[in-house]
Amino acid sequence: MRILVTGASGLLGSSFAIKFASRHEIHSVYHKHDPPAGIPVKLDLTEFNMLDEVFSSIRPDAVLHAAALTDVDLCEREKELAMKVNYDVTARLASLAKEHNAFMVYVSTDYVFDGTKGLYTEDDKPNPINHYGYSKLKGEEVTERIAEQSCIARASVIYGSRPSAGKVNSALWLIEKLRRRERVNVLVDQHISPTLSSDLAEMLNEVIQRGLTGIYHLSDATRVSRYEFAQRLCDVFGLDSSLLNSARMKDMNWTARRPMDSSLDVSKAMRTLNAKPLNIGDALSQLKEELGS
Ligand SMILES: NC(=O)c1ccc[n+]([C@@H]2O[C@H](COP(=O)([O-])OP(=O)(O)OC[C@H]3O[C@@H](n4cnc5c(N)ncnc54)[C@H](OP(=O)(O)O)[C@@H]3O)[C@@H](O)[C@H]2O)c1
Repeated sequence: MRILVTGASGLLGSSFAIKFASRHEIHSVYHKHDPPAGIPVKLDLTEFNMLDEVFSSIRPDAVLHAAALTDVDLCEREKELAMKVNYDVTARLASLAKEHNAFMVYVSTDYVFDGTKGLYTEDDKPNPINHYGYSKLKGEEVTERIAEQSCIARASVIYGSRPSAGKVNSALWLIEKLRRRERVNVLVDQHISPTLSSDLAEMLNEVIQRGLTGIYHLSDATRVSRYEFAQRLCDVFGLDSSLLNSARMKDMNWTARRPMDSSLDVSKAMRTLNAKPLNIGDALSQLKEELGS
């Protein structure tokens, strides 16, 4: 298949491109950071004329739209920019996908929920409490409205074995800090469904191959607090968990509010996909294997 991957220099998009560049013709859209795999396409997605040209010349069978403004506090401060990247770009891609008969996957987030319930299913009603979540929800709605052949794939706190888009992810950050025997503050009262990027890439590939439409929760399968996640990481990597300090959300110096429990129920993915959401033990063991350590 010919697949246009946006955000191919980012955490998820780079994982997907690395995993599938030998199986598909991957066109890796990036803006400021080089993508590690696929045919590189340098493009500011907010430049719609350029985006139209790129789309028409590549004529992809599918689009994996993983580019976004993912900095939650920046989205709160720069609301217009957040809407431009997370909504306007998505709307344009959805129109192009419809026009060119391409299947579209819009990668979305657990932050569309308010976090009062946890273990959200695809039928639960979104109610974002920050502008990042709001802009991503608007992206979901416009994708569903315009691109009939589309899938909304929601993940939660993605981590993986490589730094990407100039950032380390939360798992790599923890491993680096703890190996240097530095103490780290970890939240005991925020619950999530951590998602290994390579596992998410496998699930997304199946969604694309089978052309599955509708909403899918594609996080990994275990709900944990951030603190429990760090403890499990210590177990698997042989790190000293006494370096973990308990922290609470109320003490964080955040601009934007965060949901307390945005964990996702992945029963639908478990039932439907051959590539299943991993439990946390298997996901962390796979991370260890990917890191070769
Ligand atoms: N990370 C998480 O914990 C998490 C959790 C749930 C859902 N998600 C969703 O999963 C998706 C992937 O997230 P991620 O963490 O992989 O993202 P990321 O690492 O922050 O990367 C963001 C990507 O978007 C690209 N991008 C941003 N603005 C652009 C523009 N104007 N033109 C072209 N490219 C642009 C960046 O390109 P350059 O770096 O080259 O500029 C980069 O490749 C997003 O839709 C996000 O909302 C993420």
